[in-house]
Amino acid sequence: MIRVAVVGAGGIAGGCHMPALQAEAHRAQVVAAVDVDGDKVRAFCAEHGIPAAHTSLEEMLAAERPDLVHVCTPPFLHARQVIRCLEAGAWVWCEKPLCLSLAEFDEIAAAEGAAGPYCSVVFQHRFGSGAEHLRSLQAAGKLGRPLVAQCVTAWYRAPEYFAVPWRARWTTEGGGPTMGHGIHQFDLLLSIFGEWEEVRAMAGRLARDTETEDVSMAIVRFANGAMASVTNSLLSRREESYLRFDYEEATVELRHLYGYANEHWSSTSELWQPGEDRPSGHHAQLAVLLDAFERGERPPVSGAQARSTLELAAGLYAAAFTGRPVLRAELTPGHPFYRSMNGGHSL
Ligand SMILES: NC(=O)c1ccc[n+]([C@@H]2O[C@H](COP(=O)([O-])OP(=O)(O)OC[C@H]3O[C@@H](n4cnc5c(N)ncnc54)[C@H](O)[C@@H]3O)[C@@H](O)[C@H]2O)c1
Repeated sequence: MIRVAVVGAGGIAGGCHMPALQAEAHRAQVVAAVDVDGDKVRAFCAEHGIPAAHTSLEEMLAAERPDLVHVCTPPFLHARQVIRCLEAGAWVWCEKPLCLSLAEFDEIAAAEGAAGPYCSVVFQHRFGSGAEHLRSLQAAGKLGRPLVAQCVTAWYRAPEYFAVPWRARWTTEGGGPTMGHGIHQFDLLLSIFGEWEEVRAMAGRLARDTETEDVSMAIVRFANGAMASVTNSLLSRREESYLRFDYEEATVELRHLYGYANEHWSSTSELWQPGEDRPSGHHAQLAVLLDAFERGERPPVSGAQARSTLELAAGLYAAAFTGRPVLRAELTPGHPFYRSMNGGHSL
C-alpha cells in the first residue's frame, strides 16, 4: 500500500483528490490529512475515514512518514511545503500553480533526488483518452506536420470570486487567468505541440478589481515551427475551453469546460478513434502517477516538462509587461522575470 497524506483540506482536496484516491484504494491508502484549521481537518478526516488529522505539516511528516503527499493549499505555500515533503523523502503531487516563479521551481527541482522523490504538478487535462490519442497519432506522423493551434480559456469569474485573500495577487497566486486557469489548457497544448521557443503577449486588467490580469493573450512559436494563439480570460459570460489543432492532413478540436470525455473531441480525420473513454481529471493523472511511483520512475508533469509550462507563463508575462518578444532560452536566473511573474511591474 502506498501511504498518502493530503495537505490543505479545502475545496479541491475534498472535491477532486479524495474521489481520485478512493478510486485507487486498492493500492493507495490515505493515512493523514493536514490543515491549519483544526476543526476543518478533523471534519475532513471524519468525512473521508482518514485516521490521523494534523495541523502541522512537519509533525505529520515526522509522525506518518507518507510515501506521497498531495499538496492542496493556496499557491503561495506550495514551494515551501513541497520542499519540506521532498526533504522528508515523500513524493509530491502538487496543485497548480506549482509555485510562484521559476526561481521557486528551481529550488523545488534541487530538492528532488536523482532517483526520487519527485514532484509532479496537477495538470489533469493531459491525461484523458482524447489527448493520449492525439499525441499517439501525431507521434506516428498520421496527421502530417503540426501547423497551427488555438488555445482558448474563456471562463467567467464574478467579482465576489476575488474576495478570497490569496486570489489575484502576484505574491500569493502568482498571476491571474494565465497562472490559475488558462494554464490547464496551454499545458495540454504544450503536451501535444511540444517545446515552445518564442512568445509575444498582452495582459490587461479590464473589468475586475484585481492586482493581476483578468485577461491575457499570447502568440507562441514552437520548435517544430508551428504557431499558436492563447487566450486566458475570466470575463467571458459564455464559458468554454476550446483547443484546435491544425495539421497538414487534419484538424482536431476539443470543446469542453472543466474536463472532457471522448465526446468533446472531434476531427476531420477518419483515423480519429480514441477508443475506450477515459475522461480527463484528477483520477486519470493520479493513476499514471501511482504507476510511476510503483516503478520508481520520474512521473509525467515533473522536471523539465513541468518547467516548460511555467516558463510559458513567465514568458507571456515578460512579453506582456515589456512589449517585446521573449525567447524561452532567455528565461534563466538573472532574467528580470525569473524571480516573480510580474518582474516587479504592475498593471
Ligand atoms: N486542478 C484544478 O482544476 C484546480 C481547481 C481548483 C483549485 N485548484 C488549486 O488547488 C489549490 C487549493 O485551492 P482550493 O480551491 O482547494 O482552496 P481552499 O481555500 O478551498 O483550500 C485550501 C486549504 O488549505 C488550508 N491551508 C491554508 N494554509 C495552510 C497551511 N499552512 N497548511 C495546511 N493547510 C493550509 C486552508 O485552511 C484550506 O482549507 C490552489 O493552488 C488552486 O489553484 C486546482
